[in-house]
Amino acid sequence: MLDSKTKLIALLGHPVEHSIGPVMHNVAFNETGLNFVYIAFDTTHLKIALTAMRSLNFRGYSVTIPHKQKIVELLDRVDPLAAKILAVNTVVNENGLLVGYNTDSDAALNALKEKISLSGKRVALLGAGGAARAIAFGLQKEEAATTIFNRTFEKARSLAKAVGCEYSQFEKLESFKSEIIINATSVGMSPKSASSPVDKKVLKNKPLVFDVVYTPLETVLLKQAKVAGCETISGLEMFVGQGAEQFKLWTGQEAPREVMREVVERELGK
Ligand code: ATR
Repeated sequence: MLDSKTKLIALLGHPVEHSIGPVMHNVAFNETGLNFVYIAFDTTHLKIALTAMRSLNFRGYSVTIPHKQKIVELLDRVDPLAAKILAVNTVVNENGLLVGYNTDSDAALNALKEKISLSGKRVALLGAGGAARAIAFGLQKEEAATTIFNRTFEKARSLAKAVGCEYSQFEKLESFKSEIIINATSVGMSPKSASSPVDKKVLKNKPLVFDVVYTPLETVLLKQAKVAGCETISGLEMFVGQGAEQFKLWTGQEAPREVMREVVERELGK
Protein backbone atom coordinates (compact mmCIF):
# COMPACT_ATOMS: atom_id res chain seq x y z
CA MET A 1 0.00 0.00 0.00
CA LEU A 2 1.50 3.36 -1.01
CA ASP A 3 0.91 6.14 1.52
CA SER A 4 2.33 9.49 2.62
CA LYS A 5 5.41 7.80 4.09
CA THR A 6 6.34 5.81 0.99
CA LYS A 7 9.99 6.31 0.01
CA LEU A 8 10.59 6.88 -3.67
CA ILE A 9 13.34 5.40 -5.81
CA ALA A 10 13.57 6.40 -9.47
CA LEU A 11 15.40 4.91 -12.41
CA LEU A 12 16.80 7.63 -14.66
CA GLY A 13 17.72 6.65 -18.17
CA HIS A 14 16.88 6.87 -21.83
CA PRO A 15 15.37 4.52 -22.92
CA VAL A 16 14.08 2.63 -19.85
CA GLU A 17 11.08 0.66 -21.09
CA HIS A 18 12.94 -2.68 -21.23
CA SER A 19 14.53 -2.29 -17.80
CA ILE A 20 14.07 -5.13 -15.32
CA GLY A 21 15.05 -2.88 -12.41
CA PRO A 22 11.51 -1.82 -11.48
CA VAL A 23 10.20 -5.39 -11.21
CA MET A 24 13.30 -6.63 -9.39
CA HIS A 25 13.31 -3.86 -6.79
CA ASN A 26 9.55 -3.66 -6.23
CA VAL A 27 9.41 -7.41 -5.60
CA ALA A 28 12.34 -6.99 -3.18
CA PHE A 29 10.61 -4.13 -1.31
CA ASN A 30 7.44 -6.17 -1.13
CA GLU A 31 9.29 -9.25 0.10
CA THR A 32 10.97 -7.31 2.92
CA GLY A 33 7.84 -5.33 3.81
CA LEU A 34 9.59 -2.00 3.22
CA ASN A 35 7.47 1.01 2.32
CA PHE A 36 9.44 1.84 -0.83
CA VAL A 37 8.50 2.07 -4.48
CA TYR A 38 10.72 2.06 -7.58
CA ILE A 39 9.58 3.86 -10.73
CA ALA A 40 11.26 4.18 -14.14
CA PHE A 41 11.64 7.66 -15.65
CA ASP A 42 12.65 8.06 -19.26
CA THR A 43 14.46 11.36 -19.12
CA THR A 44 17.25 13.27 -20.78
CA HIS A 45 17.01 16.14 -18.26
CA LEU A 46 19.48 15.08 -15.64
CA LYS A 47 19.92 18.41 -13.84
CA ILE A 48 16.16 18.89 -13.50
CA ALA A 49 15.81 15.32 -12.23
CA LEU A 50 18.36 16.04 -9.49
CA THR A 51 16.54 19.23 -8.47
CA ALA A 52 13.34 17.17 -8.30
CA MET A 53 15.10 14.60 -6.17
CA ARG A 54 15.92 17.21 -3.55
CA SER A 55 12.59 19.03 -3.60
CA LEU A 56 10.34 15.96 -3.82
CA ASN A 57 12.50 14.09 -1.33
CA PHE A 58 13.27 11.00 -3.40
CA ARG A 59 15.34 8.57 -1.33
CA GLY A 60 17.43 7.39 -4.23
CA TYR A 61 18.08 7.05 -7.91
CA SER A 62 19.27 4.25 -10.09
CA VAL A 63 21.17 5.67 -13.03
CA THR A 64 21.59 4.04 -16.41
CA ILE A 65 22.54 4.80 -20.02
CA PRO A 66 23.19 7.59 -21.05
CA HIS A 67 23.58 9.32 -17.66
CA LYS A 68 26.11 7.26 -15.70
CA GLN A 69 29.10 9.44 -16.58
CA LYS A 70 27.47 12.85 -16.78
CA ILE A 71 25.87 12.58 -13.33
CA VAL A 72 29.25 12.34 -11.56
CA GLU A 73 29.92 16.09 -11.64
CA LEU A 74 26.35 17.01 -10.61
CA LEU A 75 26.39 15.26 -7.22
CA ASP A 76 27.41 16.59 -3.80
CA ARG A 77 29.67 13.66 -3.03
CA VAL A 78 30.96 10.66 -4.97
CA ASP A 79 32.30 7.47 -3.44
CA PRO A 80 36.09 7.14 -4.18
CA LEU A 81 35.72 4.00 -6.34
CA ALA A 82 32.91 5.56 -8.42
CA ALA A 83 35.07 8.69 -8.78
CA LYS A 84 37.89 6.57 -10.22
CA ILE A 85 35.53 4.70 -12.54
CA LEU A 86 34.02 8.04 -13.53
CA ALA A 87 30.54 6.49 -13.49
CA VAL A 88 27.71 6.41 -10.95
CA ASN A 89 24.82 3.95 -11.15
CA THR A 90 23.33 4.63 -7.70
CA VAL A 91 22.47 7.85 -5.87
CA VAL A 92 21.40 8.11 -2.23
CA ASN A 93 19.72 11.24 -0.90
CA GLU A 94 21.23 11.71 2.58
CA ASN A 95 19.09 14.51 4.01
CA GLY A 96 19.46 16.62 0.89
CA LEU A 97 23.07 15.62 0.18
CA LEU A 98 23.23 13.58 -3.03
CA VAL A 99 25.86 10.84 -2.80
CA GLY A 100 26.89 8.71 -5.80
CA TYR A 101 28.12 5.11 -5.86
CA ASN A 102 29.02 2.49 -8.46
CA THR A 103 27.65 -0.92 -7.48
CA ASP A 104 28.57 -2.58 -10.82
CA SER A 105 32.21 -2.91 -9.82
CA ASP A 106 31.66 -4.63 -6.46
CA ALA A 107 28.93 -6.83 -7.94
CA ALA A 108 31.29 -8.15 -10.63
CA LEU A 109 34.14 -8.61 -8.18
CA ASN A 110 31.97 -10.37 -5.60
CA ALA A 111 30.66 -12.76 -8.27
CA LEU A 112 34.28 -13.61 -9.14
CA LYS A 113 35.46 -13.87 -5.54
CA GLU A 114 32.76 -16.42 -4.77
CA LYS A 115 34.54 -18.75 -7.22
CA ILE A 116 38.22 -17.83 -7.09
CA SER A 117 40.77 -15.72 -5.22
CA LEU A 118 41.91 -12.90 -7.46
CA SER A 119 45.26 -11.81 -6.08
CA GLY A 120 47.97 -12.45 -8.68
CA LYS A 121 45.60 -14.17 -11.13
CA ARG A 122 46.17 -13.58 -14.85
CA VAL A 123 42.97 -11.98 -16.08
CA ALA A 124 42.09 -11.21 -19.70
CA LEU A 125 39.54 -8.42 -19.59
CA LEU A 126 37.78 -8.01 -22.93
CA GLY A 127 36.43 -4.53 -23.65
CA ALA A 128 37.24 -0.98 -22.67
CA GLY A 129 33.78 0.62 -22.33
CA GLY A 130 31.80 1.44 -19.19
CA ALA A 131 31.42 -2.13 -17.93
CA ALA A 132 35.11 -2.91 -18.50
CA ARG A 133 36.12 0.27 -16.70
CA ALA A 134 34.09 -0.62 -13.59
CA ILE A 135 35.56 -4.13 -13.52
CA ALA A 136 39.15 -3.07 -14.30
CA PHE A 137 39.37 -0.77 -11.25
CA GLY A 138 37.85 -3.50 -9.08
CA LEU A 139 40.38 -6.07 -10.33
CA GLN A 140 43.19 -3.65 -9.59
CA LYS A 141 41.92 -3.23 -6.02
CA GLU A 142 42.01 -7.04 -5.66
CA GLU A 143 45.59 -7.14 -7.02
CA ALA A 144 44.74 -9.32 -10.00
CA ALA A 145 47.20 -9.29 -12.93
CA THR A 146 44.89 -7.77 -15.53
CA THR A 147 45.48 -7.33 -19.25
CA ILE A 148 42.88 -5.41 -21.25
CA PHE A 149 42.06 -6.52 -24.80
CA ASN A 150 39.77 -4.37 -26.91
CA ARG A 151 38.74 -4.13 -30.56
CA THR A 152 39.82 -0.48 -30.58
CA PHE A 153 43.38 -0.74 -29.32
CA GLU A 154 43.71 2.92 -28.36
CA LYS A 155 40.82 2.58 -25.88
CA ALA A 156 42.47 -0.49 -24.30
CA ARG A 157 45.66 1.52 -23.88
CA SER A 158 43.92 4.51 -22.39
CA LEU A 159 41.91 2.45 -19.87
CA ALA A 160 44.97 0.40 -18.89
CA LYS A 161 46.94 3.61 -18.26
CA ALA A 162 44.15 5.00 -16.08
CA VAL A 163 43.92 1.77 -14.08
CA GLY A 164 47.63 0.92 -14.00
CA CYS A 165 47.38 -2.50 -15.66
CA GLU A 166 48.54 -4.15 -18.91
CA TYR A 167 46.92 -4.02 -22.35
CA SER A 168 47.40 -5.94 -25.54
CA GLN A 169 46.13 -6.53 -29.06
CA PHE A 170 43.00 -8.66 -29.38
CA GLU A 171 44.87 -10.96 -31.80
CA LYS A 172 47.28 -11.88 -28.99
CA LEU A 173 44.52 -13.27 -26.78
CA GLU A 174 45.05 -16.81 -28.03
CA SER A 175 48.66 -16.93 -26.85
CA PHE A 176 47.86 -15.20 -23.52
CA LYS A 177 47.71 -17.78 -20.73
CA SER A 178 44.69 -16.46 -18.87
CA GLU A 179 43.32 -18.00 -15.68
CA ILE A 180 40.21 -15.84 -15.93
CA ILE A 181 38.52 -14.39 -19.02
CA ILE A 182 35.92 -11.66 -18.55
CA ASN A 183 33.76 -10.51 -21.43
CA ALA A 184 32.89 -6.87 -20.78
CA THR A 185 32.13 -6.14 -24.44
CA SER A 186 28.60 -6.15 -25.80
CA VAL A 187 29.41 -9.05 -28.14
CA GLY A 188 26.85 -11.83 -27.72
CA MET A 189 24.10 -9.54 -26.41
CA SER A 190 20.68 -9.94 -27.97
CA PRO A 191 19.56 -9.22 -30.64
CA LYS A 192 23.04 -10.15 -31.97
CA SER A 193 23.26 -13.17 -29.69
CA ALA A 194 24.80 -15.61 -32.18
CA SER A 195 28.35 -14.30 -31.72
CA SER A 196 31.14 -14.81 -29.21
CA PRO A 197 34.01 -12.41 -28.52
CA VAL A 198 36.55 -15.28 -28.66
CA ASP A 199 37.52 -18.32 -30.67
CA LYS A 200 37.14 -21.55 -28.71
CA LYS A 201 40.94 -22.08 -28.92
CA VAL A 202 41.27 -19.30 -26.34
CA LEU A 203 39.54 -21.58 -23.83
CA LYS A 204 41.85 -24.57 -24.17
CA ASN A 205 43.59 -23.99 -20.80
CA LYS A 206 40.18 -23.95 -19.07
CA PRO A 207 40.11 -20.42 -17.65
CA LEU A 208 37.20 -19.34 -15.46
CA VAL A 209 34.86 -17.50 -17.86
CA PHE A 210 32.68 -14.62 -16.72
CA ASP A 211 30.32 -13.03 -19.22
CA VAL A 212 28.89 -9.65 -18.20
CA VAL A 213 26.18 -10.01 -20.89
CA TYR A 214 22.94 -11.34 -19.35
CA THR A 215 20.60 -11.22 -22.37
CA PRO A 216 20.48 -14.08 -23.26
CA LEU A 217 21.14 -15.74 -19.90
CA GLU A 218 23.38 -18.31 -21.55
CA THR A 219 25.51 -16.57 -24.17
CA VAL A 220 27.45 -18.30 -26.92
CA LEU A 221 30.63 -17.60 -24.94
CA LEU A 222 29.23 -19.38 -21.87
CA LYS A 223 28.16 -22.32 -24.04
CA GLN A 224 31.66 -22.53 -25.56
CA ALA A 225 33.17 -22.36 -22.07
CA LYS A 226 31.00 -25.20 -20.76
CA VAL A 227 31.91 -27.39 -23.73
CA ALA A 228 35.59 -26.63 -23.08
CA GLY A 229 35.18 -27.68 -19.42
CA CYS A 230 35.61 -24.18 -17.94
CA GLU A 231 33.90 -22.92 -14.82
CA THR A 232 31.51 -20.10 -15.70
CA ILE A 233 29.78 -17.08 -14.18
CA SER A 234 26.81 -15.54 -15.98
CA GLY A 235 25.94 -11.85 -16.22
CA LEU A 236 22.88 -12.59 -14.10
CA GLU A 237 25.15 -12.71 -11.01
CA MET A 238 26.46 -9.23 -11.67
CA PHE A 239 23.04 -7.83 -12.49
CA VAL A 240 21.42 -9.20 -9.34
CA GLY A 241 24.52 -8.27 -7.31
CA GLN A 242 24.50 -4.62 -8.40
CA GLY A 243 20.78 -4.46 -7.60
CA ALA A 244 21.29 -6.03 -4.17
CA GLU A 245 24.02 -3.48 -3.37
CA GLN A 246 21.68 -0.66 -4.43
CA PHE A 247 18.92 -2.04 -2.23
CA LYS A 248 21.27 -1.99 0.75
CA LEU A 249 22.42 1.58 0.07
CA TRP A 250 18.84 2.88 -0.16
CA THR A 251 17.28 0.89 2.69
CA GLY A 252 20.17 0.03 5.03
CA GLN A 253 19.00 -3.60 4.95
CA GLU A 254 20.33 -6.74 3.30
CA ALA A 255 18.56 -7.45 0.01
CA PRO A 256 16.51 -10.60 -0.55
CA ARG A 257 18.94 -11.80 -3.23
CA GLU A 258 17.35 -15.13 -4.03
CA VAL A 259 13.96 -13.55 -4.63
CA MET A 260 15.58 -10.89 -6.81
CA ARG A 261 17.42 -13.54 -8.82
CA GLU A 262 14.21 -15.51 -9.39
CA VAL A 263 12.40 -12.41 -10.64
CA VAL A 264 15.19 -11.50 -13.04
CA GLU A 265 15.43 -15.06 -14.38
CA ARG A 266 11.69 -15.15 -14.89
CA GLU A 267 11.63 -11.76 -16.64
CA LEU A 268 14.55 -12.65 -18.91
CA GLY A 269 12.95 -15.98 -19.74
CA LYS A 270 9.79 -14.29 -21.05
P1 ATR B 1 29.24 -0.69 -21.88
O1 ATR B 1 28.94 0.56 -21.11
O2 ATR B 1 28.16 -1.72 -21.83
O3 ATR B 1 30.58 -1.26 -21.54
P2 ATR B 1 30.27 0.62 -24.23
O4 ATR B 1 30.90 1.65 -23.35
O5 ATR B 1 29.58 1.08 -25.47
O6 ATR B 1 29.23 -0.25 -23.43
O7 ATR B 1 31.41 -0.44 -24.64
C1 ATR B 1 31.17 -1.50 -25.48
C2 ATR B 1 32.42 -2.39 -25.56
O8 ATR B 1 32.12 -3.50 -26.42
C3 ATR B 1 33.64 -1.70 -26.17
O9 ATR B 1 34.80 -2.22 -25.58
C4 ATR B 1 33.53 -2.09 -27.64
O10 ATR B 1 34.75 -2.08 -28.34
P3 ATR B 1 35.27 -0.73 -29.08
O11 ATR B 1 35.92 0.10 -28.01
O12 ATR B 1 36.20 -1.22 -30.08
O13 ATR B 1 34.04 -0.09 -29.66
C5 ATR B 1 33.06 -3.51 -27.49
N1 ATR B 1 32.40 -4.00 -28.71
C6 ATR B 1 31.17 -3.67 -29.16
N2 ATR B 1 30.89 -4.34 -30.32
C7 ATR B 1 31.98 -5.10 -30.59
C8 ATR B 1 32.32 -6.03 -31.62
N3 ATR B 1 31.46 -6.31 -32.61
N4 ATR B 1 33.51 -6.64 -31.57
C9 ATR B 1 34.39 -6.38 -30.56
N5 ATR B 1 34.14 -5.51 -29.56
C10 ATR B 1 32.95 -4.89 -29.56
